[in-house]
Formats: sequence, C-alpha cells, structure tokens
Amino acid sequence: MKIEQLFGVKGLATLVTGGASGIGFACAEAMSDNSARVTIADANSETMKEAVAKLQARGGDVRGVELNVTDRAAVRRVVDDTAAHYGRLDVVFANAGISGGPGFLNTDRTRNPDRMLENIPDELVDRLIEVNYKGIFTTIQAAARHMRAQRSGRIIVTSTISTFHAEIFVGAPYVISKAGLMQMMRQAAIELAGYNVQVNAMAPGPFVTNIGGGRLQDPAARSFFDKLSPSHRIGRPEDIQGLALFLASPASSHITGAQIVIDGGATLGMAD
Ligand SMILES: NC(=O)c1ccc[n+]([C@@H]2O[C@H](COP(=O)([O-])OP(=O)(O)OC[C@H]3O[C@@H](n4cnc5c(N)ncnc54)[C@H](O)[C@@H]3O)[C@@H](O)[C@H]2O)c1
Repeated sequence: MKIEQLFGVKGLATLVTGGASGIGFACAEAMSDNSARVTIADANSETMKEAVAKLQARGGDVRGVELNVTDRAAVRRVVDDTAAHYGRLDVVFANAGISGGPGFLNTDRTRNPDRMLENIPDELVDRLIEVNYKGIFTTIQAAARHMRAQRSGRIIVTSTISTFHAEIFVGAPYVISKAGLMQMMRQAAIELAGYNVQVNAMAPGPFVTNIGGGRLQDPAARSFFDKLSPSHRIGRPEDIQGLALFLASPASSHITGAQIVIDGGATLGMAD
C-alpha cells in the first residue's frame, strides 16, 4: 500500500476535545493539514476561535465549538452534533485535560509542604477527576454510540506516562485522575473491537504546552526537565503528530487497546 493510503486521513470526520492548544491542537493540525474534516471542541472559546482561524487560513475544513467536558449533556450534544454535521464520526481525540499543580518535590529537591498529600484541597482532587477522568469517559461513551452503530471508528485517548509510574514533580491529583485511563481505554477497546472500532491511547511524557499555566514554557523549568530526559529534550506539540496520524489512519488498522508511550525515553530513566 502506498504511504498516502496507509497514513491517509482525507475526509475523516474528526473531533478533538481540548483542541485549541498544545497536544490537542497539534492533533487537530495534523488531521486538518492532511485533509481531514475537524471539529475543535474546547472550554476556552477565545483560543478555540484562534485555533480554528489558524487552520482555516491554511485551507482546513475546520469548525469550532465551545465545550466543557465536565458537562456530560454538553459532551453528548457536541458529539451528536458533530456526527450529524458530517453524516458520520470517524475519529475522536478524547484529549482535554488539566494540571493538578506541581509535585511534592520542588526542582531543587526540597519538599513543598503545600503539595503534601494531606494538604491537597478536596476541590482540586474533585476538579481533576471531573475533567481528566470523567470528561474522557463521557467523551468515549458519546463517541461509542455513533461508532458502534456505523461499525467503524477510532477513539484516541490522551493519557500520560504518569499512568505507569509515581511522580515526584507532578501533583498527586493529576496522577490519580489519569491512572484509570489505561484501563478505561482497554475496557472500551475490548467491547468495541467486534464493531470495527479501535480505541488506543497516547501516553506523552512532559511536553511544552500551556498546561499548568505554561509552566514548561519557562526556559529554566524546561531546561530542568530537558536534562532529566535521555534525549536531552522534552516533547514539543509537533512531536505528537506522527503518532496521532498513525492511530487515526489505516496504518494502525489492527491495533486496539494499546497505550503508546511518546516521551523521548523519559520512562527509561536518566542516561547521564
Ligand atoms: N503537556 C504535557 O506535559 C502532558 C503530558 C502528558 C499528558 N498530557 C495530556 O495532554 C492533554 C492536553 O494537554 P496539553 O498539555 O496540550 O495542555 P494545554 O493546556 O496546552 O491544552 C489543553 C486544552 O484543553 C482545554 N481544556 C481544559 N479543560 C477543559 C475542559 N474541562 N473542557 C474542554 N476543554 C478543556 C484547554 O482550554 C486547552 O485548550 C491533557 O489531557 C494532558 O493531561 C500533557
């Protein structure tokens, strides 16, 4: 098969939650630049409009919708509207997520009392579970309704390497909110496999995005995390694009229930 067919996403009806920024925008961009039809759904209407305009200016068939994934009825409505708009639903990136703040260790290896387990506010834990855990599950549920019926589709969850190991520089609320995503993805994958619907996850290591107030965009913070990586650099949003296209295209037609790590080797440990 020619590479254009193998990795082709032309015309695919695609929805990206949290698609206005960072990893979600990079997925939307990769799909749009390769002629998929893309709906960007994001809680931030300003950045959503900017993202849509940016891709439209490059000729993309892109639309935007304001969506907070913690509103279950709204998620279902947006997924239903997207499927109705395109007449089908081929690819859903369940991506929207937020940070729970830094971990219990500061980067100078001192302990941060505010980030100790017993001092983490209930509201923060609840918010992280609402967005990162329930928001992804509701998105998968809403997508499944359409994809099962049409007997095709791809659901791609943005997970994290924090599902594999405990974190010292990443807050506990984030880690626990993401921990269940691998099993959520696998459970959806086994149930939907017989309907030709594939469900997989991308598990990024640290990427420079706007998450956590853009913490990793600060050169000092980035350089600290760059040095922890065997590749001597953390991820940039465009690093996700090959994996996004792979999981959305025929190239991954026999892959389901997989969580693919994309971290420049960070989970291998430090090399020097
Ligand atoms: N950046 C990293 O280091 C990293 C690493 C692993 C996993 N991730 C995951 O990648 C995903 C994308 O994060 P990012 O790093 O690109 O961050 P980002 O902040 O750059 O982008 C996240 C987008 O999601 C939107 N969003 C936030 N809450 C929302 C909600 N309730 N409903 C709808 N949209 C919402 C934001 O407005 C934003 O546009 C998240 O699930 C995150 O946990 C990020």
